[in-house]
Amino acid sequence: MEINIDLSCIMVIFGGTGDLTHRKLMSAIYNLSYQNMLPDNFAIVSIGRRVFTDEEYREQIKKSVSKYSRFPMKDEKWDEIRSKVYYLDFDFKDNDGYIKLKKLLGDLDERYNTHGNRIYYLAVAPEYFEPIVGKLKFHGMNTHKGSKRRIVIEKPFGKDLKSATYLNEKITSAFSEDNIYRIDHYLGKEMIQNIMVIRFANLFFESLWNNKYIDNVQITSSEMVGVESRGGYYESAGALKDMIQNHMFQLLSLIAMEPPVSLHTEDIRDEKIKVFKSIEKVTPEYVMENMVRGQYGRGKIGDKEVVAYREEDKVSPASNIETFVAMKLYIQNYRWVGVPFYIRTGKRLASKSTEIVIQFKSMEKLLYFKEFDNLEPNLLVIKIQPKEGIFFQINGKKQGVENRIIPIQMEFCQNCPLENNSPEAYERLLFEVMKGDSTLFTRWDEVEYSWKFADTISEVWKNKQPNYPNYDSGSWGPKESDELLKRDGKFWWNV
Ligand SMILES: NC(=O)c1ccc[n+]([C@@H]2O[C@H](COP(=O)([O-])OP(=O)(O)OC[C@H]3O[C@@H](n4cnc5c(N)ncnc54)[C@H](OP(=O)(O)O)[C@@H]3O)[C@@H](O)[C@H]2O)c1
Repeated sequence: MEINIDLSCIMVIFGGTGDLTHRKLMSAIYNLSYQNMLPDNFAIVSIGRRVFTDEEYREQIKKSVSKYSRFPMKDEKWDEIRSKVYYLDFDFKDNDGYIKLKKLLGDLDERYNTHGNRIYYLAVAPEYFEPIVGKLKFHGMNTHKGSKRRIVIEKPFGKDLKSATYLNEKITSAFSEDNIYRIDHYLGKEMIQNIMVIRFANLFFESLWNNKYIDNVQITSSEMVGVESRGGYYESAGALKDMIQNHMFQLLSLIAMEPPVSLHTEDIRDEKIKVFKSIEKVTPEYVMENMVRGQYGRGKIGDKEVVAYREEDKVSPASNIETFVAMKLYIQNYRWVGVPFYIRTGKRLASKSTEIVIQFKSMEKLLYFKEFDNLEPNLLVIKIQPKEGIFFQINGKKQGVENRIIPIQMEFCQNCPLENNSPEAYERLLFEVMKGDSTLFTRWDEVEYSWKFADTISEVWKNKQPNYPNYDSGSWGPKESDELLKRDGKFWWNV
């Protein structure tokens, strides 16, 4: 691939010995290198507390890449980046460490001709975001005339609006907004980028994409796994903050936004933010009526018995944290008025999938439709993970002499023929940071709006104790989630 942008840089990974770096970031870098997408003028400096030599660190990374990368480990490919990986051990709060780092980066600039360009990747617990940014600023490493200095911040970006605003103030005091890349790794997924293409490059979808033809939209992200080893983090987050505030809101904005005036980052983000602004005001009464929360009890996933959330490691036996959320929202603009958007996410559910179902309105009761009153509606399903593709349901005549109409399903699976080898989200996202394109990252006002929304719901829920657990592991969540749609004469499509 030929790219006419200067990609030269040193990527500085804070948290270089952590899980994210081992499982995702280094595999993404190897995969980019494998496809010859990395520039020659490139190096990586990883930072952690554990003490390793460069060689020891490189060997560990090689093992992880061999395990997690989508491309096979080939020595000749690994050798292209191996010697460009460096490791430093110091505590993030230790000034001497930054002095060492600055010196090493200067030396590497000369060796690799990286022009002082940096990508600081904060693959660290959120409490370190502020101290690291502060130290980078204190040591004059945040800006440099004529060089690109970018910073990538992992999720979660704050734990509510107040903490997110505080964090944002600290980061923007050191880096300008166009150099800040707030990660929502969902935006790096292939089918999410495809949503805009499906909508805006197909006449027959875009012309029907409104309240005249669409009955309702359902956005589901379900997991079969429980909280696993993340109990400590999850106890302070829950499904609302872990999934709805970021990933689900991003999906909603892409499905509901107006066509942007251009494909420039800010034009797309401007349209996304208008969706958030158009969401019907969420009052305490609205929350109680239209939002459902749940927590998993014991149950079966496949034929395996699993424990309840309150029995998980690092979880309080009296925990009131929600592991499931379902809600109905309305977007009050000319395109969507009257169309319910149902959103749900949860752990320990019956299947693992992220998908968006667009249910079209039923046909007028004429011709066939007079005789067959149980005709299925047309459905467009955008499958985001694990399968990536599109599923379409239309009505057709059943073969034979009888006049019967049956739903016909057509499916396009993008990643099936490649045996799941479509690019990993982090691969795409790292490459976008190197290019300096922040379209697939969240702008501050998107984060701000989504936190305002999540905080309103949290506040209402805080004042009313739930009765947990209220759904069995392996089910589709609490019965109130089904009732939410049943009241409107609808049901969840578990396609
Ligand atoms: N893991 C994932 O799949 C994933 C997915 C999405 C988002 N995230 C986000 O990514 C971030 C990192 O997650 P993670 O799972 O990789 O965490 P992790 O495995 O706990 O790694 C933390 C890293 O920070 C380093 N560290 C901690 N305190 C330090 C200190 N005082 N000074 C220097 N180094 C220090 C650790 O170094 P030592 O071990 O050497 O002490 C380690 O390299 C978090 O914000 C998380 O929410 C992770």
